[in-house]
Amino acid sequence: MINLSINNIPVSVEEGTTILQAAKMIGVEIPTLCYHEDQSVKANCRICLVEVKGAKGLLTACSTKVFEGMEVFTNTRAARDARKTVLELILASHPMDCLKCIRNQKCELQKYAAEFFIEELPFERTYQILPKDESSPSIVKDLSKCIKCGRCVEVCQSIQSVGAISYSHRSDEYRIATLFELPLNETVCVYCGQCSLACPVGAIYEKSEIEKVWKALGDPEMHVVVQTAPAVRVSLGEEFGMEPGSIVTGQMVTALRMLGFDRVFDTDFTADLTIIEEGNEFLQRLKNGGPFPMFTSCSPGWVNFVETFYPEFMANLSTCKSPQQMFGALAKTYYAQKMGISPDKIFVVSVMPCTAKKYESAREEMNSSGFRDVDVVLTTRELARMIRESGIDLKKIVESEFDAPFGITSGAGVIFGASGGVMEAALRTVYEVVTQRELGKLDFEDVRGLDGIKEAVINIDGLEVKIAVANSLSNARHLVDKIKSGEREYHFIEVMCCPGGCIGGGGQPIGTVNRVRNERIKSIYEVDANMPIRQSHKNPVIKQLYDEFLEKPLGERSHHLLHTHYRARG
Ligand code: SF4
Ligand code: SF4
Ligand code: SF4
Ligand code: FES
Repeated sequence: MINLSINNIPVSVEEGTTILQAAKMIGVEIPTLCYHEDQSVKANCRICLVEVKGAKGLLTACSTKVFEGMEVFTNTRAARDARKTVLELILASHPMDCLKCIRNQKCELQKYAAEFFIEELPFERTYQILPKDESSPSIVKDLSKCIKCGRCVEVCQSIQSVGAISYSHRSDEYRIATLFELPLNETVCVYCGQCSLACPVGAIYEKSEIEKVWKALGDPEMHVVVQTAPAVRVSLGEEFGMEPGSIVTGQMVTALRMLGFDRVFDTDFTADLTIIEEGNEFLQRLKNGGPFPMFTSCSPGWVNFVETFYPEFMANLSTCKSPQQMFGALAKTYYAQKMGISPDKIFVVSVMPCTAKKYESAREEMNSSGFRDVDVVLTTRELARMIRESGIDLKKIVESEFDAPFGITSGAGVIFGASGGVMEAALRTVYEVVTQRELGKLDFEDVRGLDGIKEAVINIDGLEVKIAVANSLSNARHLVDKIKSGEREYHFIEVMCCPGGCIGGGGQPIGTVNRVRNERIKSIYEVDANMPIRQSHKNPVIKQLYDEFLEKPLGERSHHLLHTHYRARG
């Protein structure tokens, strides 16, 4: 252990701890902007300057490791003046239009400007208003607000291994840019939105579709239905000041009814359906000898990644649509018939933790109902804005239940929200279908958690099924490269584009870091454990859907409505 003092308070910390971390342990917050707790240290903004006895100048707390006997002072005149100057310089080159900024009240720069109470800037304003890049169906880039911290570049390059954005130019011209400054939709961007989560300010954010939803809700001719993804119920509460991982399923359903949706449904239902279709596809591949490995296909950022970087593996992707798209196709066919409503009068809204789902719903082929299957995708953050705008306090409203028929779901459906969940849900069904025996223990703990790659071998009636689970695209790339080189062989692989799976999606509340992801994961499994049905094939409404409409898994109607194809993105 290392013994030091911070502001005259003794503290003992492990070797390798930074001043920033040590200060936090004794309740002292040092301002940071380029620092991100899940990323490498960049030390380029210099807002975290502190004084260390004996050091020549001020030191950056985020990058300086503690040493025995160190005496740190975080609040000397020199440290506070230096930080204020850094902040003033950033603000001088910033538009400061907080009132019309999407990050108003959720912005790290704005928070420090308020804390330092900067009434007047001593520097000339040098900000430039640059055109926004709105070419992407999922995210908007507004570099007028960029403070050049580099957090988006690290997530895009290192965590996602996509490299759609990078550092460009030098000195005054230094900026974040795409290759040849192309619009985002002409780059290799997979629309994951992880950059929007990492950005401390309002320079990258989700493309909002809230107005389209308000319009549909205000149209008396339209029957507006909403589906909510598994991961939203364990994150939405954070937008209303609740603890990370708070489970707000019932309050969310009530809030959606209060907003005016005609029916509130659960994407967990079509997650159950995905398991039936995907499980059968896997069994069919086992019978036909491949192609292996079969990759899951419910994460659109991952599908985009395969289409962009590994088109030779497109045949390995399951042909199943994602649960959100299966829902849209059924809402405008089966549900429309059941309700006696013309499908052109049904408006389908999805609430997703994901920005890539916006792109997915807009894909040309996602119209198998004869209409656009999903009309609008809102992220968790957008739903929270609608709820706030309506004056609804999520903490105070009563809980209520999803509507039938697409509100009857299983625990297998809900764990789709966490990395490893799709694999676990599939195993809970495939094992019983193949062996015709009840699974004693439903929990497959080996595939749970935040580890980048998880592997297991499952014995299903004498067959050793080799499985793997990857979360985040850099881990997926690592795995695919090993398969490509022949170093590894698997039968079935789950890939989730975002770190931790959908609970860590790019549309989740700002402040989604691994610490928070872990809390949401715990809650997802808590919801699962408390469900009366925990296996997709035991969901009675899924059985009814096949009896009344789809006939059989992988049948003609399923094929038309629930499966898709892929195309290389050049
Ligand atoms: S990015 Fe932050 S400081 Fe800049 S305008 Fe938006 S809220 Fe204000
Ligand atoms: S959305 Fe994802 S892939 Fe696109 S720039 Fe952001 S981090 Fe990179
Ligand atoms: S866009 Fe945001 S995350 Fe990226 S460098 Fe600019 S301020 Fe930082
Ligand atoms: S937070 Fe330390 S230099 Fe940016």
